[in-house]
Amino acid sequence: MCGIVGYIGSSSAQSFLLEGLARLEYRGYDSAGLAVMEHGHIHTLKAAGRLEHLAQKAAAAPLAGCAGIGHTRWATHGEPSERNAHPHTDPQGRFALVHNGIIENHADLRGMLEQHGFIFRSDTDTEVIVHLIAHLWDGSLLSTLRQALPRLHGSYALALLCVHEPDAIFCARKDSPLVIGLAGDAQYLTSDIPALLPLTREAELLQDGEIGVLRREGVCVYDAMGNERPLRPLHVDWDVTAAEKDGFPHFMLKEIHEEPTALHRTLAAWSPDQLPMTAKSIRTLTIVACGTAYHAGVIGKYVIEQLARLPVTVDVASEFRYRQPILTANDLFLAISQSGETADTLAALREARKLGAQVMALTNVVGSTMAREAAPHVLYTHAGPEIAVASTKAYITQVETLLLLALELAEKRGTLSKDKADQLRADLAHLSSLSETLLNRQEVIAAFARRHCGHSHVFYIGRGVDYALAMEASLKLKEISYIMSEAYAAGELKHGTIALIEKGTLVCALMTQPHLADKMLSNIKEVKARGATVLAICGESLCNRVSAAADEIWPIPDTEPLLAPLLAAIPMQLLAYHIAVCRGCDVDKPRNLAKSVTVE
Ligand code: F6R
Repeated sequence: MCGIVGYIGSSSAQSFLLEGLARLEYRGYDSAGLAVMEHGHIHTLKAAGRLEHLAQKAAAAPLAGCAGIGHTRWATHGEPSERNAHPHTDPQGRFALVHNGIIENHADLRGMLEQHGFIFRSDTDTEVIVHLIAHLWDGSLLSTLRQALPRLHGSYALALLCVHEPDAIFCARKDSPLVIGLAGDAQYLTSDIPALLPLTREAELLQDGEIGVLRREGVCVYDAMGNERPLRPLHVDWDVTAAEKDGFPHFMLKEIHEEPTALHRTLAAWSPDQLPMTAKSIRTLTIVACGTAYHAGVIGKYVIEQLARLPVTVDVASEFRYRQPILTANDLFLAISQSGETADTLAALREARKLGAQVMALTNVVGSTMAREAAPHVLYTHAGPEIAVASTKAYITQVETLLLLALELAEKRGTLSKDKADQLRADLAHLSSLSETLLNRQEVIAAFARRHCGHSHVFYIGRGVDYALAMEASLKLKEISYIMSEAYAAGELKHGTIALIEKGTLVCALMTQPHLADKMLSNIKEVKARGATVLAICGESLCNRVSAAADEIWPIPDTEPLLAPLLAAIPMQLLAYHIAVCRGCDVDKPRNLAKSVTVE
């Protein structure tokens, strides 16, 4: 959600900034802009819309200079336009600033600054920061920032150029991510680690309240009191090609194809004993997340309750925070977040800790804010960087990790024998190769997508873990194809929503649970009787039972029922992908969305 880059070194900054922004464009694509320092003057370039518009302008009138900052925007305050694009500058052109986050008291600050004669040229909350710095300027940017930052309420990651410090980039953060890349005689700044991968593997993670100063020869980090702290670089071992398309037309398709490897890696790296308390002492488990990660959490509830007999609540983070939850020291709290930066999930984690619960995080990003705040009680997925806005491999590995957690809890709580737990782990280990077979069935899925991409609304139904998967399948379709879709617990449909089923309505029925197959079959017949076109996704051994009722059947290999969503998710993701492609949608960058939602 807004991407920030910075470069200072001995080469021309512009090309590094544009390349960096291209690698961060999944964080927002409403507008983009650059500011470069040249001979003590700041030059800016901005364009509304996709980065290619900025790149065209930059090619026509290149910015020279070896220090610069850049921004790709996901609009919060002010329409997506060139006027509202970052960087923002003060009236005298002494400072240029890019920002990710929201300044909640921007209206008050704007009023105060207008009284002091500052004229605003955009509708953004960001512009107040640069004017505030100009207003408070005391001859040293470090000391001015130390005065200005406490006056900002809300969240920010920001990078700043200043004509009085032409050989430096200043940066600061609070509740929005910012990473400094250390590379000897050049230093980089980015919002996310993947943008650094081709440049350096040494990442210095700025902490909340800190100020970083990047100079060509090195980096200094200061705490809020202005004391310099030693650098503690993190070595990043992600593969460079993981952040590139590698011959696939879209990141999303590539990332779906990486699922077998991601499953294998996550399983191989699983290490038990990350719990902050003994398994037997846990009274309840509260799982909190947003979007796809929330849907993984819903599967977590089914499997943990069933295997470990532990009461589990799953909450959407933005709701959890404000519903005055009841948690005690005997309650375990688990935040799930691919990025480890989602603002609501992070705030929920902090709230849970404040309430006295024992907190854990499940994330894909080492060094992310949630990983740091929950340390050492962190479960990692090893999906590698996920670039497509629509989450796929992260979801699969989140579900896998929750299964592993369920097995650990169940064994330790004595609700599952070691033999049975080991057998489930062996089944889990087999899933990686079973999932490969599903990737080979793409032509069938693409053909189905071509026939059905014209629907205006689609229903997904399922029972048990299949219902939890239906929620995710439905989100995947709507977010990238813009088709209105709904997920229903199959037994709930007839309590109202079945009124919407008419001749030709597409219903995707998930039927992987043998103990629920009879009930599912009845539900499928109910919609079929009202004219629905039914796609059934079912375990191989259940296919013959549904053959008379469904219009199309996609079998998935038989496996332990609780593990089946890990397989059934793959055709569901591919279906959403191919429908979106048929509809000509921008699969990797769906409208209005951005990856890593660092605003509330
Ligand atoms: C949908 C999607 C989002 C994220 C959600 C939470 O495909 O990716 O719904 O799952 O924004 O993000 P994280 O997991 O980074 O907290």
